[in-house]
Amino acid sequence: MTQPETPDPNVRVVDHPMVAHMVGELRSAATSVPRFREVMEQLGELLAYEALRSTPTTEVEVVTPLEKTQANRFAERVTLVCILRAGAGLTAGMLRIIPEAQMGHVGMFRDEDALKPVSYYDKLPPSIADGPVLVCDPMLATGGSAVACLDLLKSRGCDDLTFVGVIAAPEGLAKLRDAHPDVPVVLAALDRELNDVGYILPGLGDAGDRIFGTMP
Ligand code: PRP
Ligand code: URA
Repeated sequence: MTQPETPDPNVRVVDHPMVAHMVGELRSAATSVPRFREVMEQLGELLAYEALRSTPTTEVEVVTPLEKTQANRFAERVTLVCILRAGAGLTAGMLRIIPEAQMGHVGMFRDEDALKPVSYYDKLPPSIADGPVLVCDPMLATGGSAVACLDLLKSRGCDDLTFVGVIAAPEGLAKLRDAHPDVPVVLAALDRELNDVGYILPGLGDAGDRIFGTMP
């Protein structure tokens, strides 16, 4: 699929054949629940790799089997914030490549009539504001859930935030950029539009249902 131009330097739609291939598999209604979950996790690995591209590192001394040398480590501990439920699909993969990351959870669902986010839970690490935070949710539709989650994290002192998603609608991306222009956004695809019930077109359907097998 041809992706619209995104001139905003704080928005990166990852342009890589492996990412495009995976998004295609997620889009297909023929993809089974176990395979959907597996691909979502793999995409989480690739998107975390992209989202951490500018993360500061610090030099430490290590001893190789042959001699001492300088090596790099993340300067601060990374936190992954999972917007429940669907964010869990992405963070499961991310934790495979950054297993030392700490996790925060924010429970948020969208009232399907009002299309407004309803917050029902949060459990955030006490030191979350000390390092980079990746806020993870595969779907950015109206943008309400992502904006509410970023509002919460800023109210807890976080100032190094990146939103990581799989598919965004232009409407949701615009809302996020208006509300939080300082927060970089990393996506796998930017789609055409929202339909009249707030679903992304062409999209992939309901991400949470497809990850957890709860389709009606
Ligand atoms: C989905 C998705 C986002 C939200 C996006 O969650 O995972 O959190 O919708 O929509 P928005 O941009 O219009 O806020 P959903 O509300 O379906 O909850 P679930 O993950 O628990 O199924
Ligand atoms: N949430 C989803 O899971 N999918 C959409 O298309 C919109 C919101």
